[in-house]
Amino acid sequence: MKPIEVEHLTVAAGDRMLLSIPHAAFDEGAVYGIVGPSGAGKSTFLRVLNFLEKPQSGSLFFSGHRVDLTSLSHSGGLHLQRQMAFVAQKPVMFQTTVFENVALGLSYRGVPRSEKARLVMEALRLVGLEAAEGRKAASLSGGEAQRIALARALVLQPKLLLLDEPTSNLDPPNVLIIEQIITRIRRESPMTILMVTHHLQQARRLSDRCLFLYQGRIVEQNDTQAFFESPQSEALQDFISGKMIY
Ligand SMILES: Nc1ncnc2c1ncn2[C@@H]1O[C@H](COP(=O)(O)OP(=O)(O)OP(=O)(O)O)[C@@H](O)[C@H]1O
Ligand SMILES: [Mg+2]
Repeated sequence: MKPIEVEHLTVAAGDRMLLSIPHAAFDEGAVYGIVGPSGAGKSTFLRVLNFLEKPQSGSLFFSGHRVDLTSLSHSGGLHLQRQMAFVAQKPVMFQTTVFENVALGLSYRGVPRSEKARLVMEALRLVGLEAAEGRKAASLSGGEAQRIALARALVLQPKLLLLDEPTSNLDPPNVLIIEQIITRIRRESPMTILMVTHHLQQARRLSDRCLFLYQGRIVEQNDTQAFFESPQSEALQDFISGKMIY
């Protein structure tokens, strides 16, 4: 069995099917690029995995436990949720300092103060923002806020990191910083990363495998090189060549 598996996942809004994924599996320590047109269900998929949205059906095998995603008891879900971190498409900052924004998850987990300070500063260094620790989060630029959101996720040292367009709205130097962090995690850490991105070249640079989500389904998945060099489905061929209109 793969370390992370999703089965019989369906999400619907009214009579509209938003996601239908019979089975998906993810290896430990690998980076997965998730691409697909706008509205394909990419964010919904990450939200469901992070227990932020309840599907109509579906189970998740993660960290040695199988859970029913439709009826998570609070404690069961919390236990698994604490081993994941999610960076949303639009980062949310709390009305406090940068330090406290990054420390938040550690505080919930009861990490002692001195250990917390060490971990927060390490995470801030990783995203190149250690000098901003005392600043009000509200004063950050969009790019800085996105890096702080990533630091807030990394500080938790999750087994599974869910990134929803982590570099959208960033300028090239900030994109590079985030890509370097992901590359380093890929090389050095057993963390599994699922990264949604609209930048195909970014998926190609950073991912071990790629998935193409289209109309709520995983239409194709493969090792990154084969995914881009020899797409099998017409939909992925059209998407990669820029012919797909959505
Ligand atoms: N609560 C909801 N009720 C109704 N429709 C929804 C709901 N949440 C999402 N949708 C719809 O589900 C579809 C998938 O949305 P989702 O945000 O997952 O797409 P996405 O692939 O992340 O798109 P993008 O690339 O634009 O971020 C969209 O058509 C969206 O409008
Ligand atoms: Mg999205």
